[in-house]
Amino acid sequence: MKKDLLSFKDWTADQLHSLLALAKTIKNNPASYRTALDGLSIVALFEKPSLRTRVSFDIGINKLGGHMVYLDTQSNKLVGREDVKDMGANLACWADAIVARVFAHNTLEELAESAKVPVINALCDMYHPCQAIADYLTISEHYDDFSTVKLAYIGDGNNVTHSLMLVGVALGCEVVVITPEDYEVDENIIKLTQARAQQFGGKLTVSTDINAANGSQVLYTDTWLSMGDETPLADIKDTFAGYEINEALMEKTGAEYVLHCQPAHRDLEISSSLMDSDASLLMQQAENRMHGQNAILVQLLNSGFKPKN
Ligand code: CP
Ligand code: NVA
Repeated sequence: MKKDLLSFKDWTADQLHSLLALAKTIKNNPASYRTALDGLSIVALFEKPSLRTRVSFDIGINKLGGHMVYLDTQSNKLVGREDVKDMGANLACWADAIVARVFAHNTLEELAESAKVPVINALCDMYHPCQAIADYLTISEHYDDFSTVKLAYIGDGNNVTHSLMLVGVALGCEVVVITPEDYEVDENIIKLTQARAQQFGGKLTVSTDINAANGSQVLYTDTWLSMGDETPLADIKDTFAGYEINEALMEKTGAEYVLHCQPAHRDLEISSSLMDSDASLLMQQAENRMHGQNAILVQLLNSGFKPKN
């Protein structure tokens, strides 16, 4: 039966650890995986702009011997021409998988239901699973044991936060989510994350107090205004000002590293100098987008692949 990746909420700790191990193997032995997607074609359907996700999927698929067709629904005006389910069924006539970046999670569910091929979430309003796997791959390259890692996400409670929570506690991390009041993460995701923490051993704390980040090894932030949110920056800037990640916060919390999924806004959610400092893992994260996604593709499309020597 085909397997989709719409979120990681139903992936066990073992499955996540195996996926990270596969990502590392592919990263360290690219030549052995050059034919892993031989002859396979993947459609990338994007309702929103992208730099990292689009390019890392395209180049990553190419490195595995596959082929990507990019469909930009903004310039191509595909949305509204036909029902999503008809688009999904048609795409599956030619493609071996669909990677989709959409506004509403429901669109992914409709695609997954109608397409007979795996659907991979490349970001929606609720989740960004491909980002989370790259983030924890990056963290694992600095810490041997996730259970020693306290990760504080500071900023707007959003899609990136949700995926960080769901994956992080299953891997055994202590995840602290700090947002201003009224910008908290989704209640259902909190409940789900707490259940996963109980099952797998991590820990979740949710707070509006920046002091909850004290003692973290890693700080993480994302844009204060996600794609599609037309709120003027001036309306929220004062609310978020105290939640900027900067050198002073790194020192106060004792954190060693800072992460950001990017695109970043210098001197808003992260200080420009911190972004360029030795503590910044942003480019490592960006590179790991490709390795994480390649592992997802191999896992979903050709899990029996035997790496070539
Ligand atoms: N982090 C991320 O998904 O970047 P893009 O929006 O550029 O793809
Ligand atoms: N939360 C951001 C992530 C961008 C990669 C957004 O949805 O725009």
